Amino acid sequence: VTEVHEIVLQKVGHVPVAKGDFMKMPKSVRIFVSHCIQLMKPRGVYICDGSEAEAQEIIHKLEERGTLTRLTKYKNSYLCRTDPEDVARVESKTFICTPDKYETVPHVREGVAGILGHWMGPDQMQVELNDRFPGCMAGRMMYVIPFSMGPIGSPLSKIGVQVTDSNYVLLCMRLMTRISPKVWEVLGDKEFVKCIHSVGCPRPVQRVVKNHWPCNPENVLIAHFPHERKIKSYGSGYGGNSLLGKKCFALRIASVIARDEGWMAEHMLISGITPPNGEEMFITAAFPSACGKTNLAMTTPTLPGYKVQVVGDDIAWMRFNKKGELRAINPEAGFFGVAPGTNMQTNPNAMMSFQENSIFTNVAETADGGYYWEGLEDEVPKGMAIKTWLNETRALGQPGPPASHPNARFTCPASQCPIIHPRWEDPEGVPVSAIIFGGRRPKGVPLVFEAKSWEHGVMIGACVKSEATAAAEFKGKKIMHDPMAMRPFMGYNFGHYLQHWLDMPKVPGRKLPKIFHVNWFRTDESGKFLWPGFGENIRVIDWILRRCKGEDIAVESPIGFIPKPGSINMEGLGKINEKELFSMPKHYWLDDTRESRRFLEDQVGVDTPPIIFKLLEDQEAAFVAM
Ligand code: GTP
Ligand code: MN
Ligand code: MN
Repeated sequence: VTEVHEIVLQKVGHVPVAKGDFMKMPKSVRIFVSHCIQLMKPRGVYICDGSEAEAQEIIHKLEERGTLTRLTKYKNSYLCRTDPEDVARVESKTFICTPDKYETVPHVREGVAGILGHWMGPDQMQVELNDRFPGCMAGRMMYVIPFSMGPIGSPLSKIGVQVTDSNYVLLCMRLMTRISPKVWEVLGDKEFVKCIHSVGCPRPVQRVVKNHWPCNPENVLIAHFPHERKIKSYGSGYGGNSLLGKKCFALRIASVIARDEGWMAEHMLISGITPPNGEEMFITAAFPSACGKTNLAMTTPTLPGYKVQVVGDDIAWMRFNKKGELRAINPEAGFFGVAPGTNMQTNPNAMMSFQENSIFTNVAETADGGYYWEGLEDEVPKGMAIKTWLNETRALGQPGPPASHPNARFTCPASQCPIIHPRWEDPEGVPVSAIIFGGRRPKGVPLVFEAKSWEHGVMIGACVKSEATAAAEFKGKKIMHDPMAMRPFMGYNFGHYLQHWLDMPKVPGRKLPKIFHVNWFRTDESGKFLWPGFGENIRVIDWILRRCKGEDIAVESPIGFIPKPGSINMEGLGKINEKELFSMPKHYWLDDTRESRRFLEDQVGVDTPPIIFKLLEDQEAAFVAM
């Protein structure tokens, strides 16, 4: 019995280790876990090994309790209904804590509320944490989860240890990250990201528990300590708040690590596209939440002879290798995708990925033991009885409120995707030829354009906007800024982040990918989409790849290079209003350019790299002269 083990036995009052061998964990982890036990006072400690037997034990428990419902139509798949108050990321309660405020958030204009990250000083945060964490796991088991973001042992991967009192979170972490005792070996005495999560419902519970989903929505708090590489999340069991490997670690904390180490952690899909000539190229794309990353990542191309294979659908870690190529890995092991709208027409590859071993959260259940959500109208027979995400029963086809929550999600292993790329776990990553930005832009923004330079591409990324979606707590159809699709996920000062991007070409010999912007969501007067989207997006990707090969198919415009008329393959498409789809209304863009500049002046202020303002001024001048 070593010193640390004694601490556990003495100071924690014989908290039993229900499973696993405490002494098999590296010493730094034992100290971390001991600290967690002392602080949160769980009734036991359960050290996870990621095995199938472990999962079955937990699933069995959750089924008995009623947290999970087995979907008998599929193998080893389950439905979970959350407390209806715990359904999305809570950006307003998400904080980054550093002693220097301006390391974390930019200098915003006086009187303006900053939207690029929320800072709280470590002392004030400590007060908040002290109100919540002491004793917060009373009567509950504390699960210790060793996980790797990226293939275990890869030089690009990073290790985390999450403690949580939610076994739903454990089950989802199993799908989204790589949990294994091998992590302990790889870790040794090296650094790991410390992830602490509690649903904030110590026993005996003070609050009515709905749907067997303990949570504490009034007191949600998600705190990040980038210097300490530590995350503390309280009160929510919902994915983005509780699966700490994902947004908290792989984006917020990792973006800080990436800043320090000279690489990039981005909210991007990664896919390999093989055109008919067989020359595969890889793209990454950053769209705000619920704007089509998962769909594009695994799209079924409608053009004959094209092949798309997915490497990742949400997060990319990218770094230039010794040869100067930008290489990307997907740090995750699973897909946590928006369910509504997913069907055999829009995303058959996602559908095939979750036919077994999957968890569905806040979807509806059919009487024959299947899942149901908005978008499956043509795939589930009319008249079928369903139980909605709010536990209401009705027959399909009958009027009623939505069957699923708009942010309902499927969680499944990426390896089950029929078009998973054979190199998706390549420790060296895949070479990136094009970086694509985009958002939901109902007006003014053409289908596709190409940045004039790397710097211009950074400016385009900084000006990404999108109609609000259900992935966070915002309501309504407002157009919001979401620069680089990273607004909710920034780990440090956004101005410094832009400078980090601008610094990428400063190392000689680097081959820079081309940067593009796409918009699948432009609408006509009646609000109908001008572009069919989904599998037809391959036509735009094809144009992008041809540009990467240097084809002369673009003309310069004030916003960048746009397709020469007829250069996008429209063969076999129905009637498309190309004039409107590609138009660039002068007054729209004058307003938009000025509004973007004001946004950066207000939100990023003196931290904005001057070149970004210069490029916006050039753009404005070009439209004035038009
Ligand atoms: P997160 O996982 O939250 O980061 O979002 P995401 O970017 O992966 O979004 P996802 O691919 O799940 O897209 C969500 C919504 O966008 C669904 O409602 C889709 O139907 C819709 N969508 C995706 N691609 C297209 C498209 O090409 N055209 C149109 N009109 N809608 C699309
Ligand atoms: Mn996302
Ligand atoms: Mn997604």
